[in-house]
Amino acid sequence: MAHLWSGRFAGDPDAELFAWGSSFRVDRRLFEDDVRGSLAWAAGLARAGVLTREDAEAIERGLREILEKGLADPSFVSDEHGDEDIHAFVERELVSRVGDAGRRLHTGRSRNEQVAVDLRLYLKRRLPEIQRTIAGTVAELVALADRAGDALMPSYTHLRRAQPVFVAHFLLSHCASLRRDAARLDAVLHEADELPLGSGAIAGTSYPIDVAGLAKDLGFGRIARNSIDVSGDRDIVSSFLHAASLGMVHLSRMSEDFILFTSEEFRFFELADRTATGSSLMPQKKNPDPLELVRGKSGRVIGHLTGWLTTMKGLPAGYNKDLQEDKEAVFDTEDTWIGCLRAVSSVLEGLTPNADVTTRAASGLLLATDVADYLVGKGLPFRDAHEVVGALVRKLVEEKRSFDELSLAEWRAHSPLFGDDVRTAVTPLASVRKKHTPQSTSPAAVAAALAETREWVASLRT
Ligand code: ARG
Repeated sequence: MAHLWSGRFAGDPDAELFAWGSSFRVDRRLFEDDVRGSLAWAAGLARAGVLTREDAEAIERGLREILEKGLADPSFVSDEHGDEDIHAFVERELVSRVGDAGRRLHTGRSRNEQVAVDLRLYLKRRLPEIQRTIAGTVAELVALADRAGDALMPSYTHLRRAQPVFVAHFLLSHCASLRRDAARLDAVLHEADELPLGSGAIAGTSYPIDVAGLAKDLGFGRIARNSIDVSGDRDIVSSFLHAASLGMVHLSRMSEDFILFTSEEFRFFELADRTATGSSLMPQKKNPDPLELVRGKSGRVIGHLTGWLTTMKGLPAGYNKDLQEDKEAVFDTEDTWIGCLRAVSSVLEGLTPNADVTTRAASGLLLATDVADYLVGKGLPFRDAHEVVGALVRKLVEEKRSFDELSLAEWRAHSPLFGDDVRTAVTPLASVRKKHTPQSTSPAAVAAALAETREWVASLRT
């Protein structure tokens, strides 16, 4: 079989070695982008007077036919012809349709820039889909917040009870990190918005290609600065893998929270039967397998990032075949991330908040800060208030009691500033109502945050 470079060689490459080094199995996913890039390149060559109008029309007709066929029937993009990569596939199909005109398409162009442009087009096409999937998960968090209503729960630091918050506030905290993930993809999209074509193999192209026109045709906002850089640059891959790694870290931490909070020890939420799995031996088990898998798969995506940075770090300038490894990392990361977002969404959809359990857990000694704030309200400096309440907590822990069991005399034994109003000031609800700032768990702030998050979801989905 003839390859894109056969002329240089006396014989065929070793069949097994060639198949091993071929990337078609992976980069066939760039089919659509490769054809679109070639359509624009052919138009650019025609505008530059490098292709005759007839040749350019033949190429366009051939490429459109190939694109239509591949989009209608993905099995058309098959490796039965033993193509080295998707670029070789498209060129062979083109030549088989339009003959010599097809053999003129690659004038002034290199696969080095072709793969770079394909990958950018692919990311520009796919990242918005990941953003919409993130919005879907955020929508499930908001729906769960609605089901939780005004239920309270403890917030935790050091996994020890800290202060009461609305369950909705806890859920909104995960919305916040997921929204950063979507925003980070905007930055990746901006980075991807740069046309590599015109770089040739490494030194640029000798034909008078209107690169700005090409950028416009393909929807790129900028043109790459340097052809040597283009040849060997895969920063966009690192940036995407980093965005995905952080996205997976967030999904993993959220999963860990719900693994804990659905356990017998917490019982803050109940897992739907349809999102849990049982044990082959222990009949009582109701395991949160999907959440554990999300936590586990985060390691795989982080692995792609560290693997890719390791692959890049020793490469000399310009294209090196090592770069071909980029696509497996990108595609597996995309699939894993989207899969995990969907898995988390369906677990969230099935969660039932146990308002009585969470609210009970939100009372007790975690109101200590509110007691200190009460004393501050009576004029005591905060540091002194902290000490008074610390001593009171020590006594209550020893006696296995809580604030609501104290008589007024006992309160006053710790500070004469305590009055009868301490009983209404020190409750979980009073605690959240006292909060002021927009990012706090105050009822008004939580309601506003929920409304604003709903708007964000709606804006991303349209
Ligand atoms: N399949 C190759 C890759 O993904 C395409 C670029 C080939 N360039 C080359 N000089 N061999 O990296």
